[in-house]
Amino acid sequence: SSTVENIIQGSVKERIDRWVARYPDDQKQSAVMAALRIVQETNGGHLTTELMDQIADYLEMPPIAVYEVATFYGNYEHEPVGKHKICLCNSISCMLRGNDEILAHMEKKLNIKPGEVTEDGRFSIKKVECLGACGGAPMMQIGKTYYENLTEASVDEILDGLE
Ligand code: FES
Repeated sequence: SSTVENIIQGSVKERIDRWVARYPDDQKQSAVMAALRIVQETNGGHLTTELMDQIADYLEMPPIAVYEVATFYGNYEHEPVGKHKICLCNSISCMLRGNDEILAHMEKKLNIKPGEVTEDGRFSIKKVECLGACGGAPMMQIGKTYYENLTEASVDEILDGLE
């Protein structure tokens, strides 16, 4: 009953097939992580239930098994993301040190809430679990970079300084 076009065709299918070919015929589910990554990339950086269902179909595995992998590992997105994906730590040390004020400031500045993307596609905000930099709370990660001891002023400087 899907109205979504099948994403697993053409070059996307070829890329997934290259992974599938690495495993014995009865173990093609082993390509699920690669398939999720490729489909996520093709879909502009995030997965949807329909797309995960297509992967399940293609790899002949139960949809629930695909959802499990896609939610267990932190490298899959289930909401649209911007060019710069702001991951704001939402765990205890960062909470105690004012991450809610930082979030409120970013929401106002960018005019989006967590799970949304700015109109120009540049930024999205995601609340994440402890990133292991509690000594620098409150903190966020954008790309591979950690930004610590955030203040409203430093957030402005960081975001305005990104390409
Ligand atoms: Fe925020 Fe650990 S609680 S980095």
